[in-house]
Amino acid sequence: MIKPSDTLLYTLRTQLGLTGVKPGCENGDCGACTLLIDGWPIKSCLMLTVEAIDKKIQTVEGLKGAPIQKAFVENFGFQCGYCTSGFLMVCHSLSKVHPGANKATIEEWLDANICRCTSYQEIEDAINSIINNEM
Ligand code: FES
Ligand code: FES
Repeated sequence: MIKPSDTLLYTLRTQLGLTGVKPGCENGDCGACTLLIDGWPIKSCLMLTVEAIDKKIQTVEGLKGAPIQKAFVENFGFQCGYCTSGFLMVCHSLSKVHPGANKATIEEWLDANICRCTSYQEIEDAINSIINNEM
């Protein structure tokens, strides 16, 4: 049963078992909980489940086989991996919304997420490899 106060993050993890969406700060700062709503990255700790009714929700579980996954592996875009599902969602969306994104746009999009392990350069390299491949 879903309560009006349940966040989308909570519902996906506890009711639906979609644990690819990660709880971090639960305050909108870290981006670990990022998923796509109608193709756009959203922090699921800040969205109520009832707000997602009739929206298309995509979590990292739905990215199986997407080019961005391979790009992260090939460019060493993760270490501990806790932030990775959130970054994958942002980068996947970016590659679709801005297939020709320049460095400034990429940095602006990546600003929404925090990684404690990598230097961010590897993540930028991963998204660049996807964008360059599509151009
Ligand atoms: Fe949602 Fe950190 S857990 S932004
Ligand atoms: Fe560890 Fe990003 S890979 S927090």
